[in-house]
Amino acid sequence: MDSTLKQTLVEAIRSIPDYPKPGVMFRDITTLLGNARAFRRAVDELVHPYAGGKVDQVAGIEARGFIIGGAMAHQLSSGFVTIRKKGKLPHDTVRIAYSLEYGVDEMEMHRDAIVPGDKVILVDDLIATGGTAEAAVKLLQQMGADILSACFIIDLPDLGGRRKLEALGVNVRTLIA
Ligand code: PRP
Ligand code: ADE
Repeated sequence: MDSTLKQTLVEAIRSIPDYPKPGVMFRDITTLLGNARAFRRAVDELVHPYAGGKVDQVAGIEARGFIIGGAMAHQLSSGFVTIRKKGKLPHDTVRIAYSLEYGVDEMEMHRDAIVPGDKVILVDDLIATGGTAEAAVKLLQQMGADILSACFIIDLPDLGGRRKLEALGVNVRTLIA
């Protein structure tokens, strides 16, 4: 990935100190999403390795992973799987608890969203501690998904999330750190 793209993405992201609680530097991608060129280039870069290949599903993590993942699924002509906070999905689900940089939560997906052997790309805007993505990987693996990679625009490397996913055998792709 060329350094001008990295620069474009870095400049498009807004940083908010002490949000949602003191000590957290919140990396706000709404400014990137509102920047047509930065948004398009980020999505293009994320789908690049899979162009022309077969991806069955992009799985996006609520909420920001839905926006990026939806755009990726369109470009890849794949389906889209929603991995949601608990209590939002109407049909039979699989659920898992996970911890965050600033709290705990549970996520779930529909049991029938993945056919065993499906080639899946997991996506979210950012990986911090990796607790969210690790839980999503475990749900997908439980359902028999073949996870091609887990993709994020932003990595917060000091928090160790990438290593957590790699320990589960998942290929991790991030655009900026
Ligand atoms: C953010 C972000 C990731 C997660 C990363 O979501 O979009 O999903 O935190 O943190 P982790 O690597 O430490 O688990 P958040 O939980 O704030 O939810 P939201 O997207 O619904 O606002
Ligand atoms: N999710 C977890 N940590 C975050 C951060 N620092 N900025 C934005 N989203 C996050």
